[in-house]
Amino acid sequence: MSRIRVWAFAALLFAGALGPVQSQPRVAPKLEPVAETKLLMEGLAEPNARALGKLLNGKPQGAEAWAFARGQALLLAETGNLLLMRPPRARASQDAWSQHAADLRDSATALAWAAAAKEMAQARAALANVGNACNRCHRAFGTGPRVDPFGE
Ligand code: HEC
Repeated sequence: MSRIRVWAFAALLFAGALGPVQSQPRVAPKLEPVAETKLLMEGLAEPNARALGKLLNGKPQGAEAWAFARGQALLLAETGNLLLMRPPRARASQDAWSQHAADLRDSATALAWAAAAKEMAQARAALANVGNACNRCHRAFGTGPRVDPFGE
């Protein structure tokens, strides 16, 4: 082996030996809410619920409109997941909060399924359930408006 090759080989061994020592033990990233709840309401919950109400108030739609409705419903469902990450500080009300957030997720997921199946009656019933989930949380926490997804 030429001298240079030997050095290169030694350098590789050295780098290999250092590798595991240098890397820190990995800490799994945690869920961490960053936006205010109010922003989720104004940017996700309200516009998607309103748009779905408009769509489901109309005549049966084409495939594209149903696909759009499915997407909006899934964004509402994910809003439920985001709400689960930011319970109120008071321990006593955390369970109730989580229940309402999960209700939003589940009712909106049911709506997404109904939209995928292009079932108008089922979709309307599911959107009414979504509205109820919004209102139950707002009532329980004495905040937020009365939500009527089918209203103007
Ligand atoms: C798990 C509880 C919870 C659920 C579920 C929930 N909200 Fe809210 N909502 C809140 C809270 C808390 C506020 C007050 C936020 C603030 O002002 O800091 C609020 C406020 C609002 C506001 C007023 C925002 C503003 O500009 O002050 C709107 C609009 C709203 N929610 C719409 C909805 C809709 C639509 C749904 C259902 C699709 C929904 N919310 C579901 C907890 C919830």
